[in-house]
Amino acid sequence: MASWKFIAVSTVCLLVFLSGNISGLDNGLVLTPPMGWLAWERFRCNTDCKNDPENCISDRLFRTMTDILVTEGYTAAGYEYINVDDCWLERERDERGRLVPDRERFPYGMKSLADYVHSKGLKFGIYEDYGNFTCAGYPGVVGHLSGDATTFASWGVDYVKLDGCYALPTDMDYGYPEFGRQLNLTGRQMVYSCSWPVYQIYAGLQPNFSSIIEHCNLWRNFDDIQDSWASVESIIDYYGNHQDVIVPNAGPGHWNDPDMLIVGNFGLSYEQSKTQFALWAILAAPLLMSVDLRTIRPEYKAILQNRKIIEVDQDPLGIQGRRIYKHRGIEIWSRPILPIQQGQFYSYAVAFVNRRTDGTPSDVAVTLRELGLSNPTGYRVEDLYEDVDYGVLSPQTKIKVKVNPSGVVILRADAQPGYAFNAITTRTPYTPLNDVFRLTKK
Ligand code: GLA
Repeated sequence: MASWKFIAVSTVCLLVFLSGNISGLDNGLVLTPPMGWLAWERFRCNTDCKNDPENCISDRLFRTMTDILVTEGYTAAGYEYINVDDCWLERERDERGRLVPDRERFPYGMKSLADYVHSKGLKFGIYEDYGNFTCAGYPGVVGHLSGDATTFASWGVDYVKLDGCYALPTDMDYGYPEFGRQLNLTGRQMVYSCSWPVYQIYAGLQPNFSSIIEHCNLWRNFDDIQDSWASVESIIDYYGNHQDVIVPNAGPGHWNDPDMLIVGNFGLSYEQSKTQFALWAILAAPLLMSVDLRTIRPEYKAILQNRKIIEVDQDPLGIQGRRIYKHRGIEIWSRPILPIQQGQFYSYAVAFVNRRTDGTPSDVAVTLRELGLSNPTGYRVEDLYEDVDYGVLSPQTKIKVKVNPSGVVILRADAQPGYAFNAITTRTPYTPLNDVFRLTKK
């Protein structure tokens, strides 16, 4: 009897031990949002290498982008992942049920491509789909979860985007964690990007975000980005309108993914491009560029390599920002960042967005205190696109910015150290940020 008990207890311990090791996505990866290049928005499912060898989804495209990431300063700015999206596969698995990369477009196979990416100091991402097919109709992983995870690990994959076409959204609560478990079982650490919530939301289901956070490193909540300002605006609105549900789910190792950066393509003006980049940083979004790095114009490259804004995106606290004001086409978005002074006064990145179309810049004037910035020893404020340093400002100071139509002004306000002898330190009549972020004393 005693020995049975022992066996039972040990089995439970073993299971707990095993599941402690393999469940959840406590994989130590992407403690700040991932940064890299992803093919889809710009290069789509172009498989015509005969007529369009430069732009088709092929080994050559990804090697070229890898090279440019390194030689053109993107890697130095923090971009790290080279990610393949849909349309890399043959239509059929091989006779042993394994995934096969398109033989003409990826003639050396994915291990060779991953090795190349690694040889340049970068990481390699791949795309699959939980359902029967990928969105473009190539074989999905269902029925092959373990084998495909093993295949990816054997190729040296560092990041898997798992889409959700041709799958039942109700199956996803089981399927996404299970594929993540299979990834973990390979022993290779792979970032796990999920589309689980967006397909459930489309199906009218309520995603179980606590499970999603536990099992995915990042996930999509909303529509695919397209090459237009209207598309970017719809994403901004979705994230603003649903922020109470969305924002608390973000944190180190688990991020909301509002989709790729389209800066440098055809659809956004210069102002709009600056707005997308600034707001993605406020949203603590993955910075996955989908653009032709061979032909991008210098001013767009400069946006993508803006170190000060990247630093906001990559802030170690990992608190996603929120829309704190919206009135007559003017929005203010704000994100708490380091440093924190006296255990309670956060620093902030603040973005003023002009959604108006009336052709002339709009003035926005607001005191720091009205923004909820009440550190009595003030904030050092600087503009992150323009070379403007406002110096150290007290909470009473009114700052005035001019925001271009469909443009942005993004500031960083660093809480200054020091001791407040006149205790106006605590409650202020208007502290919107303290309310919306529910900041707690550290
Ligand atoms: C879905 C995804 C996109 C892209 C395509 C590929 O639409 O949301 O990001 O991966 O599939 O077919």
